[in-house]
Amino acid sequence: MKKLIAIIISVFISASALTAKEGMWLPMLLKSLNEGDMQSMGLKLSAEDIYSVNQSSLKDAIVSFGGFCTGEIISDQGLILTNHHCGYGQIQSHSSVENDYLTNGYWAMNHAQELTNPGLSVTFIVRMEDVTSEILNDLSPTLKESERQAEIAKRIKAKVDSTTKDSSYGAYIRPFFYGNEYYMFVTETFKDIRLVGAPPSAIGKFGGDTDNWMWPRHTGDFSLFRIYADKDNQPADYSEDNVPFKPRHFLPISMDGVKKGDFTMVYGFPGRTQEYLTSYAIKQIKEVINPAQIEVRNQALKIMDLHMKASDKVRIQYASKYASIANYWKKWIGENRGLEKANAIQLKQDREAAFTKATAGMEEYKMVLPELEKRYLAIEDFALARSFFVEIPYRKMEMLRLANRFTSIVEDTSEVKELDTATIEKLKEQAKAHFKNFDLSTEIEVSETLMKEYKKQLNSKYVPEILKGGKADLFMKNYESAIKKSNFLTEEKVMALLDNWGKGTVKKVKKDPVYQLMSQFWDIYFKEVRPNYSVLAAEIDSLSKIYVKGLRSYVPGTYYPDANSTLRLAYGQIDNYKPKDGVTYDFFTSGKGILEKYDPENVDFDLPKRLVKLIEDKDFGQYADEDGSLHVCFTASNHTTGGNSGSPVINGTGELIGLNFDRNWEGTMSDINYDISQCRNISVDIRYVLFVVDKFANAGHLVEEMKLISTKK
Ligand code: ARG
Ligand code: GLU
Repeated sequence: MKKLIAIIISVFISASALTAKEGMWLPMLLKSLNEGDMQSMGLKLSAEDIYSVNQSSLKDAIVSFGGFCTGEIISDQGLILTNHHCGYGQIQSHSSVENDYLTNGYWAMNHAQELTNPGLSVTFIVRMEDVTSEILNDLSPTLKESERQAEIAKRIKAKVDSTTKDSSYGAYIRPFFYGNEYYMFVTETFKDIRLVGAPPSAIGKFGGDTDNWMWPRHTGDFSLFRIYADKDNQPADYSEDNVPFKPRHFLPISMDGVKKGDFTMVYGFPGRTQEYLTSYAIKQIKEVINPAQIEVRNQALKIMDLHMKASDKVRIQYASKYASIANYWKKWIGENRGLEKANAIQLKQDREAAFTKATAGMEEYKMVLPELEKRYLAIEDFALARSFFVEIPYRKMEMLRLANRFTSIVEDTSEVKELDTATIEKLKEQAKAHFKNFDLSTEIEVSETLMKEYKKQLNSKYVPEILKGGKADLFMKNYESAIKKSNFLTEEKVMALLDNWGKGTVKKVKKDPVYQLMSQFWDIYFKEVRPNYSVLAAEIDSLSKIYVKGLRSYVPGTYYPDANSTLRLAYGQIDNYKPKDGVTYDFFTSGKGILEKYDPENVDFDLPKRLVKLIEDKDFGQYADEDGSLHVCFTASNHTTGGNSGSPVINGTGELIGLNFDRNWEGTMSDINYDISQCRNISVDIRYVLFVVDKFANAGHLVEEMKLISTKK
């Protein structure tokens, strides 16, 4: 009997280990690597149904949305579903205090009302190809690393050029496994993308930054766009004559809902993961880089929040910037906690020990780990300075970025250049865009506070002269009045500079306090930080290539390439998790929870009255679950990361069941250390999306475009 139980238990364990899925897989390799596994977990399709070059497949419904998110086609008229936070910049750009679509939402009731978005594009993957041998074969072993890289770059360019010659397609080639392999992606990009619908932020961003990265969640994080093409269904710049695009495939929508254990897959464009980092690297991220960046953002957010609360204008101007700063601020906090709890440094040390043991006696691998350790020690100072440069002068002191745009016309020659009007016009346009979302008093307070932090945290060799010594006392003590002498703080003054460009203005700009501050910061970065950092980072990369090659060849494990913004498929199942002792979460949330969180006094949890009423009346229409409630969000064990926002969550028969938009806080470390017991992706249930479109917004005409599938009723 005991023996039998032991056998049952061991079968059980190996079965659950089998379904513990980590990884973001290359669609073209699913057939050889994953198909059997996926089918054993509940996939009813073949790998060819997911990715095919010859017939239409799920891949033809997936787009990279603007290069930073994912979207999917959900009708035969090119309707795209993505997240509210992915369309946020567009929704914001159409918003003003009078027409506040961020607050009120926007619904085009016909094609004519769909709003154009200059600069926004979506990209399909036409096909992918393993080009490793073309890129790497017969490289002379005597090449220096820099020569090797140059030769590789040359081959990549030649391959891309020959592929795209005489074609409307684009192509790019990316390294995988630190350059052990190379794949090419042939792409088709559409540029006329219109905004179709967005819920009010109180739905699309419900829970705000309080709930961001957290479970349980009740956010309707979606928005709708449409691809327009020319009359031959080809990509075209915006034109009134363009028509809705006819896709090769669109995702049908399942109305059946999800159960724990159901097979799920997420198809999209994950941005960046670093699963093969060494313990030295993780220690640096966890103990040095993350804490520094968290603190900088902490300070910036506090100040921005006060200014946004004090003025509606500033609230709208800074909404998108604030959300993006807050997002990774909170992610890093979660990541650090997760790494600590999972004992990630120890886990990576174990992997290093296994590597050392397995490669003992092999010359190629002998020095890899000690050399990596040495490089990480050496890079730390530069990495920290780089983080501070990126976080402070480069990203959060916006006046410096504007001033930086003037360098080419100020520094190019000692003579004042004959400026063509196009350059001046371009600068004017950039200045206008800059000032649209710029508030001077917010900028002054943020920049003053962050520069103090920069000075406090960094070695003085990275601190601009203007902030040091006696001069600094003058500058920093009277920061506001010193800075206010600048010509870069108001649109009028910048335009006046550009209108009168000549010798005099060049002199004026060179003496400008903001311009001086900018050139000193930039100078330090480009002379003291970047060159050193790049050399070491390139060496780390080359060493990592050997490390990963050794791991894959000699240490048993599951190896998948790190995310690099290329098309990937992750698969797993609907699952809940236990965040800590004594607490078990459910795998889904419902309308009841929306009402529980509802708080008109708190901007993060306010709700449109109409939504409250619909939920109170249980007026869910066909979007109710069979349990009678309105399901809102769910968790699953798909390995995802930033860039997977807006990715479809697809069931075993290829239908859309949800829209990925986040991960749980305990699991944000998955970019470095995936742990099946803690890492979950968070999605909005597709039925909640449709409920909002149809019942809340009365935009049922959009649901009519879609193909709903119900096997239950
Ligand atoms: N955390 C999600 C992602 O990484 C959602 C971010 C947008 N929401 C927000 N409250 N800032 O992008
Ligand atoms: N919200 C993320 C994004 O914008 C997705 C969540 C994640 O990082 O997994 O891509």
